[in-house]
Amino acid sequence: MNSSDIRMIEEAHLARFYARKPVTLVRGKDVLLFDAEGKEYIDCTGGYGTCIVGHAHPVVAEAIAQQAHKLISCHGSTYNDARANLLSILATILPSGLDRVFLSNSGAETIELAIKLARKSTGKRKIVAIKGGFHGKTHGALSATWESKYRKSYEPLVPDFVHIPFGNFEDAKATISKDTAAVLVEPIQGESGIRVPPPDWLPLLRNLTQDNGALMIADEIQTGFGRTGRMFACNHYGVTPDIMCLGKGIASGLPMGVTVAPERIMASMAVGEHSSTFGGNPVVCAAAEATIKVLLNEQLVENAAKSGAYFKDQLLDMQRELRIIREVRGTGLMLGMEMRFDVYSILQSAIQNGVLMLDAGRNVLRFLPPLSIQKEHIDRVVSCLKTILVKEQVAKLPS
Ligand SMILES: Cc1ncc(COP(=O)(O)O)c(C=O)c1O
Repeated sequence: MNSSDIRMIEEAHLARFYARKPVTLVRGKDVLLFDAEGKEYIDCTGGYGTCIVGHAHPVVAEAIAQQAHKLISCHGSTYNDARANLLSILATILPSGLDRVFLSNSGAETIELAIKLARKSTGKRKIVAIKGGFHGKTHGALSATWESKYRKSYEPLVPDFVHIPFGNFEDAKATISKDTAAVLVEPIQGESGIRVPPPDWLPLLRNLTQDNGALMIADEIQTGFGRTGRMFACNHYGVTPDIMCLGKGIASGLPMGVTVAPERIMASMAVGEHSSTFGGNPVVCAAAEATIKVLLNEQLVENAAKSGAYFKDQLLDMQRELRIIREVRGTGLMLGMEMRFDVYSILQSAIQNGVLMLDAGRNVLRFLPPLSIQKEHIDRVVSCLKTILVKEQVAKLPS
């Protein structure tokens, strides 16, 4: 099938919930993707952050194939070796104390469990979320997600959620109180445009939750597994949350959500109060175990820090030259470039020039490449972007 045949079939049948980009991807290798005609693209989307070790990594592909030949389905009510192997390696990288794990299938699902755990284990209801935060689009997660365009048609959402401004100390102190069950926070906000908080803000949230008998829930779905140049973004701030929600990259793009918490919190929920038919599926567990091994063996967290710093420097150089760029932000390989205009046409031009990038909101370009990206690919992305932005600046900001 060629690209237009594929598109025609998808357009005829799929629900139209995604703003689609004019590209049809059929194959990947490391940081490269290829369309049905063999055109090559450098992937700065990383499958929306799911592809951390590079596309079709042979170790991950082999682990999936071997497990698929052995056992594909195995419910959480029985024991399984692939699941045990994943849990063993996960325990070596999780923050100490976060020693109980629930396996599900998506980021939103991990958030749903975190909210239930917070309410059940504290006996309180109020959840403090953050303006600009994104936690998914199921009803519970949506109640914490800030953006009104996602929420407004589905209200009333789950009650007793309040939102405080990102990075603001006074509102946090005024809102987090004895009746707070949990504070739910992305250590670095992703969807709202790669927003990094002041260094002392997460530690403040940690202190306020501790002082008020509330839980701190870190949504590390986008930031986790090395994306920001540390294994978890909370590491940058010296903070250990009570509950951590993980997803996206853990199984190299196979669906997996992971909620981690200490035994005393997990044990607040009784057998049967939470479940997920596919959670802990052996094929996905084998993919996740292999992904973590590759992440460690190939030192990709370190590469995220190194390549991310180089990438950011190049973007900052471009910002000094081009007025059309308002700000460059982010850490590791979670980078954003805020423009003075809508980025839609930039994304389209980049596709034509063989680079895939993401947006975050209307005017931010977002870069979430595989953590294996090297200087040569970054140089190609930067050169392509600069050519596009110079033209955009001439068109939109004539001097
Ligand atoms: C920080 C964060 N939380 C939650 C989610 C929701 O994850 P999912 O789409 O897997 O439900 C996302 C997805 O982009 C995310 O970035």
